[in-house]
Amino acid sequence: MKTALVNAFRATFGRAPEIIARAPGRIEFIGNHTDYNGGTVLGAAIDRGVWVALAKRADGQRRFASDQREGVVALSSDGLARQAGAQSWVNYPLGVLAALPVFSLRVPAGFDYFAMSDLPTGAGLSSSAAIELASGLVFLAATHQTPSRETLVNVGQYAENHFVGVPCGILDQGVSGFGRRDHLVQIDCRGPRFSTVPLPAGAHCWIFNTHTKHALVDGLYAARHGECMLAAKTLGVVLLVEATPATVLAAEHTLAPAPFKRARHVVEEISRVEQAGAALRAGDLATVGTLLTASHRSSQALFENSTAELDFLVDHLVATPPVWGARLTGGGFGGAVMALTSGDFGDTQAKAVAAAYEKKFGAWPDVLPVETGDGAALVAV
Ligand code: GLA
Repeated sequence: MKTALVNAFRATFGRAPEIIARAPGRIEFIGNHTDYNGGTVLGAAIDRGVWVALAKRADGQRRFASDQREGVVALSSDGLARQAGAQSWVNYPLGVLAALPVFSLRVPAGFDYFAMSDLPTGAGLSSSAAIELASGLVFLAATHQTPSRETLVNVGQYAENHFVGVPCGILDQGVSGFGRRDHLVQIDCRGPRFSTVPLPAGAHCWIFNTHTKHALVDGLYAARHGECMLAAKTLGVVLLVEATPATVLAAEHTLAPAPFKRARHVVEEISRVEQAGAALRAGDLATVGTLLTASHRSSQALFENSTAELDFLVDHLVATPPVWGARLTGGGFGGAVMALTSGDFGDTQAKAVAAAYEKKFGAWPDVLPVETGDGAALVAV
């Protein structure tokens, strides 16, 4: 990747980059929509991500290019206007530039910038957090600043919440920032506090990307966020993490039906995350798998962010013996399913599931065995 990035940078800007950074994509292992409710979540950084190369310019111009889009977007460093249409990808680095002063950090003036990705798009593997963190690292290095990993993660989330406009929690940026090979990142989203849990030997993760996306996915995410906040307010707490499965069940007739179901999913999911952490530490992958599948069933019935495509994949995967569990990963309403399997699950089993999916839905899902990887970092040029 690095050689390809340097070559693309040279071909686009006619000179070599001065700074390079890489940030990984992530899988959400368990903890669906728990993050912005103050709960806990487990995720893993993967060995694919976004690379960004940068060289400073003296004339104040900011020029952005990417291997995912044609052309160069040239902007002056005077303003930070949101971009639309084919240029809207630039809102990720622009959002980071807008966020830096909020954290009392300096902003680089002019530069040439090239982003390159080996993350499959639309798979729910969080290419947006990856580009935010890689951008943050190169902008900070260009201005000789070395803030903590927490700050980098917070800058990325701030960019997503306030510039891109998605009210996401800390999961994506936190896992991209704190990822560690052969480990899961555990985030206690109050704080937030980050730690890692070893992924037991013999555990394998696979992604099945349906390439489907609900037309209203961004609006639906915000709607779920709103229902959770409404449920918390009715329950007399700031965030749902302060409620328990018992207090939510006792409020069944106080809460409207939708906020009740969302709240029940969140508090029970938080408890599943705790149980999954304990089972991982004990190396009990069968229990972890059961919890993953229970998480999916709860998304299906209570949070209502699954789809027929995702349910079909989960049903087929859990009926395949070397699979311990399977669930939708990420926001939902389309996207991907992840499966936790033993080493006996391979291409043959994966292709059988994909073929059944194709027969039903007329399209082949992308199948991706996932390797865990390290978190965001600068790379020697
Ligand atoms: C998306 C968001 C995360 C998290 C998940 C659902 O990936 O970006 O913050 O809320 O959905 O768990």
